[in-house]
Amino acid sequence: MNRTLVICKPDAVERGLVGEIVARIERKGLRIVALELRTISAEVAAAHYEEHAGKPFYADLIAFITSGPSALLVAEGPADAWKIVRTMMGPTNPAEAPPGTIRGDFGTVMTENLVHGSDGPDSAAREIRLFFPGLG
Ligand code: RTP
Ligand code: MG
Repeated sequence: MNRTLVICKPDAVERGLVGEIVARIERKGLRIVALELRTISAEVAAAHYEEHAGKPFYADLIAFITSGPSALLVAEGPADAWKIVRTMMGPTNPAEAPPGTIRGDFGTVMTENLVHGSDGPDSAAREIRLFFPGLG
């Protein structure tokens, strides 16, 4: 799987960090093959984060990701593009993310962690289908 889904979450859009995040992905050498500003619906958010249903942070997560527009994109690169993006994002908790990563450079708290990236080849394929069903 040489494509991966990236979401610049509502905090990134609100703070004007979409250009910064997209620029980092492009400078790394990945190609943007789809890009759209869209407010994620509750239904799509539930499908996207279905693995987290029932967890203590689930309600906050869904409320946050649907709270305003996100910038959704598909990035293409060599094999395992998802892994390249995950490395650039840093760990889930921005407080623990090292400088040089997106979360480490721009975030402070868990929910508002700026960016989502698919966590494997299967989730990349599933998430691209969910958000960009028409993408060939
Ligand atoms: P994402 O799916 O958004 O790219 O983030 P991730 O893979 O790094 O982390 P994941 O485990 O999939 O969690 C999804 C989102 O849920 C929130 N979260 N809160 N309070 C907590 O313990 C907790 N754990 C996860 C985060 O906002 C995370 O991005
Ligand atoms: Mg995840």
